[in-house]
Amino acid sequence: MSPARNLKIGIISFFACGCLLASGTESAVIAVNGAKAGPEINPRMYGIFLEEINHGVDGGLYGELVRNRGFEDSRPPEGYTFQNGKWRNPSGFDSGFTRYGYTTNGVPFWSLIQSGAAHGTMNVETTGGITPESSYCLRIDAEPGADGRVGVANEGFFGIGVRQGEQYKLSLHARGGEDFTGPLTVRLEDASGAALSDEVKISGIGETWQKFEGVLTGSKTDAKARLVIEVGAKGKVWLDFVSLFPAKTWKDRANGLRPDIAEMIAGLQPGFVRFPGGCVVEAGTVETAYNWKLTVGPVEKRQERWGPWNYRRTQGMGLFEYLQFCEDLGAAPLYVGFAGQTCIFRRPQLVPMDDMGWVRDNIMDVVDYADGAASSKWGTLRAEAGHPAPFNLKLLEIGNENQGPQFEQRYNFIHETVKTNYPDVTCLADLSWTSRDSMKDAQFDIEDAHYYETPRWFSTRFNEYDERDRKLPPLYLGELAVTSGDAGNLRGNLRASLAEGIFLMGCERNGDVVRMVSYAPLLANVEGRTELTGAPPPWHAMIYFDGTHVFGTTSYYLWKTFGANRPAHTVQTDVSFPDAKPMLVSGQIGVGTWADTAEFKDIKVEKGGQTLFQSDFSTNAAGWETDNGRWSVTNGVYRQGRRGQGFSYFGNEDWSDYTLTMKAKNTGGAEGFLIIF
Ligand code: AHR
Repeated sequence: MSPARNLKIGIISFFACGCLLASGTESAVIAVNGAKAGPEINPRMYGIFLEEINHGVDGGLYGELVRNRGFEDSRPPEGYTFQNGKWRNPSGFDSGFTRYGYTTNGVPFWSLIQSGAAHGTMNVETTGGITPESSYCLRIDAEPGADGRVGVANEGFFGIGVRQGEQYKLSLHARGGEDFTGPLTVRLEDASGAALSDEVKISGIGETWQKFEGVLTGSKTDAKARLVIEVGAKGKVWLDFVSLFPAKTWKDRANGLRPDIAEMIAGLQPGFVRFPGGCVVEAGTVETAYNWKLTVGPVEKRQERWGPWNYRRTQGMGLFEYLQFCEDLGAAPLYVGFAGQTCIFRRPQLVPMDDMGWVRDNIMDVVDYADGAASSKWGTLRAEAGHPAPFNLKLLEIGNENQGPQFEQRYNFIHETVKTNYPDVTCLADLSWTSRDSMKDAQFDIEDAHYYETPRWFSTRFNEYDERDRKLPPLYLGELAVTSGDAGNLRGNLRASLAEGIFLMGCERNGDVVRMVSYAPLLANVEGRTELTGAPPPWHAMIYFDGTHVFGTTSYYLWKTFGANRPAHTVQTDVSFPDAKPMLVSGQIGVGTWADTAEFKDIKVEKGGQTLFQSDFSTNAAGWETDNGRWSVTNGVYRQGRRGQGFSYFGNEDWSDYTLTMKAKNTGGAEGFLIIF
């Protein structure tokens, strides 16, 4: 038993002693029967959902600091065509490509630097790169002058985060034209051009591609550095795959992860990791739907793809890196595969049934990649990547947020083969956006359901699963978060988190029904929150970061607490308390004005047939306490004679349940008068 578990049990037994909780004069009794255990709670109940959204991976968790490292960002988004100024999918949905500064004739996230007499040009070439997969490359024509400099700069993902004293591994591929051999001088700089690191000098560039490597050491901390490559001689030079990684990645993995963000995630102690999406799985076109086969092997041989969240995925964090991350976290991998229907929020397309073979095989083969023998067709690739042992992938979700009979048909087609070949794999189906009826002929071991709701929705659903039909498949609540309505701001708040907590306690109480839960989305770069159609997204994230900082929202700390204190089971708890009595409202009476003058007379306070007070303004207003205004008594009338605010109070503070009557008249100004009770 962990110390954290001890704490929870300790609190329960405190109540079990029959402690009375006093609230005013009332008390409640919470009786806990430790002998009556609820259902067993899954030891891996609390997990994470890790999707490439909000630059959570590229520009976040994945260590790469150079944006558009392979110059492939100038490729048109796959499966989209250019219509009336926008890249649209076959159903007309706008990819967001142009909205986010991508261009097919420019060099996204790179800029030309020239000053003084030095000058040059930079252009993307679509062929001639280091591999067929990274065929785009950058050509620079440089003419250095006696003063000034010429070169190119990369702005990173909303700036490159550099820390004083930390080392960064630089690598780039270069080839020169004619007699160009270099040098290139590479360093990190701030926006004004001041150095933020030492320099790496590259020379000996030849006419064929060569890889050059070096190490830069940060001389100052800055979240918004840029990487500058200065050309030191006249001529042509081509660059490809320019990369900068923190020398220290999480768990020292090659092609690894940013340690501070990975550490925050590890703090959640996730029991499983659902990946890679989300909408990333289905995407906006069949061509961009997640295909893990494009994400394995050497990084420069992986095919980048336009993502549904308005940027390209480098695929640098590919299937192998996801599985390695799960293993390093001690979490079970839960892979979500494309099911042949693209995203229902992006005017979906369907893979025709007679072309579904590759879709089915992709889901099948992922199991072979993760768990097959090191000599099997796909297991060989895993072994070559340095992991001959299996990753133990036993959770497979077929599709995400798909819909209708077309989904059921495709689901069944995939499911049948998966179960025949891998009977011990647990298959999940997402019914969030389709009815149970439309999946009535489908078989699944676990049903996935997603809830993006208000605090009220979550806080009033403690008993949501008490009455659920236990014959239905158990649930995985794969995407849960307060995102809207009374949550107010989009960064989450305490109220939102407490509401999630109430709901999660209801899930624990029904641990036989709710087997797994995860929050969504997990990560967001503070400048990288992505949207669907140009409008702000409804969701926020659990963990935010920029180049040099990471922080968790209140939901992060709530879910962390639940993850660290998962009970083995709940115990029967009965709460009893007396019926609430109506709140007693009592107090004095009063008269007044806000912006006017007014007169009051014949003021009477009665209770149960008795007169508590009867005004007599014939000579004075004895007992009345004034606050502001000019109060006087004339001809039996109590008068506030100065325009503006004026109040007068009378009576006992314990007067209650009374009837107040009076005559009142506005004598100047447009508002009227005030009667206070
Ligand atoms: O978490 C953000 C998105 O919300 C996911 O990609 C998708 O599954 C859901 O609609």
